[in-house]
Amino acid sequence: MKILLASRNAGKLREFGELLRDVTFLPWPADAPDIPEDGAFFQDNALQKATFARDWWARHGTCPVDGVLSDDSGLCVDALWGGPGVLSARFAPGLSQDARNRRLLALMPQGAVRSARFVCVLAWAPTTGDPATFGGSVEGHLALEPRGAQGFGYDPIFLPEGHQQTFGELSSAVKQTLSHRSRASRAFLEAVAGQEA
Ligand code: IMP
Repeated sequence: MKILLASRNAGKLREFGELLRDVTFLPWPADAPDIPEDGAFFQDNALQKATFARDWWARHGTCPVDGVLSDDSGLCVDALWGGPGVLSARFAPGLSQDARNRRLLALMPQGAVRSARFVCVLAWAPTTGDPATFGGSVEGHLALEPRGAQGFGYDPIFLPEGHQQTFGELSSAVKQTLSHRSRASRAFLEAVAGQEA
């Protein structure tokens, strides 16, 4: 399958390449407009991104694709009432990712339960047909400080359940067996490509 990925996030693009190996991904072109994401939920943001990108590609695309895949995801921290959640990409703008990770940890109230989860909603907009969404999540806890340089985003501060190492320390092969994105990708594959991941 040939799929346009409605994202400029290099970390997501790399992970989708590893997770969906039989798919040829086209990245969102550098000269294309920014993709809007102003919904209140992962679900409506994912749908908004996929349908915007499909409409744009229908007018400006340089080759046929089977459809568009988008990913809206984020880190939901219980002690922060689910934040940054759907706003994960927009938390503490202008800071480096390491500084954002430290800023997020500093917001944790003293002695708070550190439970958190990564959530991912994928929206699939086939070139012809109705869009569909697929979700996945991974439970875990916030580390006391950032650790590791693997992955991207909030990976260095997230300890998946049952592991003593953060996603920033675990190999990408291990992350792909557990992650929110891998779970959503498996659901996508089973439904759309009719294959088991
Ligand atoms: P959005 O889906 O474009 O709104 O961005 C989601 C943001 O959540 C990313 O920019 C990351 O900061 C964070 N995020 C989502 N998935 C992951 C992940 O697998 N690891 C670390 N951070 C993630």
